[in-house]
Parts: sequence; C-alpha cells; structure tokens
Amino acid sequence: MIETVKNKLIKNGYVTINNVINKRVINSAKKIINNELKLILKKKRLKTFNSITKNFLNCKKIFSQHHLQVILAKKLETNGIYHSLLSEKKIVNILVNFLGPDIEYETNNELAINITNVKDDYYLKKYHQEYWSGVGISCMLLWIPLNLKSNMGSIEMIKESHKWGHIPHKNREPVHLPNNYKSENIKITEGSVVLFTPLTIHRTVPNKSNEIRIALPISVRNWYYPKSGNEDLWEYKKLQTSFYSKFRKILGNKEFSPFRTLGETRKSIFEYEKLRKL
Ligand SMILES: [Fe+2]
Repeated sequence: MIETVKNKLIKNGYVTINNVINKRVINSAKKIINNELKLILKKKRLKTFNSITKNFLNCKKIFSQHHLQVILAKKLETNGIYHSLLSEKKIVNILVNFLGPDIEYETNNELAINITNVKDDYYLKKYHQEYWSGVGISCMLLWIPLNLKSNMGSIEMIKESHKWGHIPHKNREPVHLPNNYKSENIKITEGSVVLFTPLTIHRTVPNKSNEIRIALPISVRNWYYPKSGNEDLWEYKKLQTSFYSKFRKILGNKEFSPFRTLGETRKSIFEYEKLRKL
C-alpha cells in the first residue's frame, strides 16, 4: 500500500489515501467545532441550532470567516484532534516512510471552510502552490475533510505540476501555465485524506451545497530537514519521535553531562504521561 501511495505521489504530485481516519475522530472534530460555534452564539445571547451550518452562518454575522477559521482550528488543536488525525496508523506509517521517524505538524494554521456562492478568493483560492506561502520543499501537505458530502466539491489538483518547479506568480495566481495540462477534481469522502507536495498546483472547488464544507489543511515536516521555506515563522508540535531524538532527550543536553540523572528519585516522564491520561 505504501509503495503504491509513494508511486502516485511521485508521479502526480498528489495522492488520495482512502479510509484512513476513524469516524470517531471525525465526529469528535465536528462536535468540537459545533460546540465552539454554539458558545459564540450563547455569549451573544443568540439562538443556537443542531446544524453546524446554521451555527456557522450565524457566527459569521458576528466575526469574519477568517477569524472563525482560526479560532475553530485552535480549538481542534488544543483538544488533541490534530494529533489524533495524524496519529492514525496508516497516516503515521506513510509519513514516517516518506519523511523519516521525526515528524512535527503545524499548529498555527486555520480551517478551510467553504460556503456556497463565494466570490472572495481568500476562500475560493485560485491555482497556487503552497511554496508561495513559505511551505518549504521538505514539507508535505495534507488536506483532511471534516465535513464533506458528495455534492460539496473538494480541491482540484494539476497533475504532475510538482515537477514544474517554482511557478512565476502575481497576486496569488500563476502568471503562466503550460498548455495541455491535466487537472483532477479530487473525489474524496470523510475519513480519507489528500497528500500533496508544496509545489503541486491546486485550487478550491466551489461548494454547490447549502451546507458548509470544512477541511483541515496542514503541513508536516521532519524537524531535522533544513527549513527551505518560512517554517521558522510558524509553530509546530511533535507527532513522532525516533530513537535518536528520544536518546537525545534522555541525555538532556548537547554536552551529554555525565551522570545527569543518576540516582534521581523523580517519577519518569512516562509515568506522568500515564497520569495525564487518567
Ligand atoms: Fe492551498
């Protein structure tokens, strides 16, 4: 499975990985989003609904969509949803196979929410490469649908565009594209993810449904790889740690202080981790 995914990614610059996320995690994400929206409405003494779409559209009368996308993403991150999504066995196996065993994920991103009849190109993005926004070449990107039905559209990818290098651009769209390129509207369902490179050209597909589409775009990287973009301006959290990194952590510092913890009576960090889960 991993080899097939890798071959598709190398060939096309993107790949859909189907049915890799447990429904429970997706449902938790939806619940957290809806609860946060209800909380915003309650604070303003406004009516709340069961529908995530109705709550979102009413919150949009109070805050900008951008603001909501940021606070909802923060809520998911602090509730451990980013970690749960990326820790799904098949996802983590693929990431480790592609990037190595030291993986971290971006934590200061925002959700991509699409409502019908949107014109604003912040929400209905034109063709672009994530590299333009500072995502370095050693990063990988995931597009994870959290609220998606078959009539909502998704993202459109240009096949093999990752091999074209850094495309000249102006005001967030390409100045020029080669003739005869092929693109694909990704057919994807909740529980699946799209993996793509920072150079793969893609754009938002309009949502024709009356319900909102919610996706989480997130970049992941191996923290030992050089930062070739603006990664130093962002925040990351550790997802997966190699033996080498664990060993470095045990030694504590670059001088490898002799007997740093010899004879200590403190509980090990692993026991504290167990306590936190209780
Ligand atoms: Fe994008």
